[in-house]
Amino acid sequence: MAQAPPDPHHAHRAPDEIAGMFDRIAGRYDLLNRVLSAGRDRTWRARAVETLQLQGGETVLDLCTGTADLLLALAPPGGAAARVVGVDFSTEMLRLAYRKVRRSTARGALTLLRGDAERIPLGDRSVDGVTIGFGIRNVQDRVAALAEVRRVLRPGGRLAILEFGTPGPTPLRAVYLWYFQRLLPLIGRLVSRHASAYSYLPASVGAFPAPAAFCAMLEQAGFADVRCERLTLGIVCLYTARAD
Ligand SMILES: C[S@@+](CC[C@H](N)C(=O)[O-])C[C@H]1O[C@@H](n2cnc3c(N)ncnc32)[C@H](O)[C@@H]1O
Repeated sequence: MAQAPPDPHHAHRAPDEIAGMFDRIAGRYDLLNRVLSAGRDRTWRARAVETLQLQGGETVLDLCTGTADLLLALAPPGGAAARVVGVDFSTEMLRLAYRKVRRSTARGALTLLRGDAERIPLGDRSVDGVTIGFGIRNVQDRVAALAEVRRVLRPGGRLAILEFGTPGPTPLRAVYLWYFQRLLPLIGRLVSRHASAYSYLPASVGAFPAPAAFCAMLEQAGFADVRCERLTLGIVCLYTARAD
């Protein structure tokens, strides 16, 4: 099946444009996540939490926290973090996150902050773990953001990053690409009523470095034990690393 390659220009947007885009789709974001991933998104986040190997007592930063699904998965009863701080620069995503946090039994352990991944509003070596769920792709200066993650992580602290990938050569690859590049943007546009947010998704995934290149970026940022685990045939990559 012939596929038009994603428009690379479409994939590069200024930070205030990105924040504005998430502000506008926030209300439909969770619904579209569940529908478009056929419920797999919860499994991907649970696997990311598992790799942090939390013992209880840790403070974890969930960067690009969005509507807080990963933040909530890090706290009891699913996760074991004693304190989780969520940072995002979209006011509307944070407003929805706050609603969910208020309803959580772990709410006393959860904090939401408005901030930019390129200037994380936390002190040096102040957290034991960092997660980023489907957010790093949107960050304009990824080198700066990874340096910031390295700065706030204590030595030995763990990092888990979820990001979309592209399935390897399997018979399902062409079907998936048709879904991801054609059908998903259409459903996303109809449900979110945003003209381009869900065509930006495949375009930005196409413009994101391949797993080996992103692993090299993590190593250059000072991380050790860098690994990429392919989830659901490689539709999602889970990058894990440890601060040296
Ligand atoms: C696709 S959503 C992911 C939300 C959530 N982590 C999840 O797993 O569903 C990406 C989020 O990253 C945030 N974001 C993108 N670039 C950012 C930046 N430079 N600083 C802070 N947040 C950012 C957006 O506002 C958005 O809420």
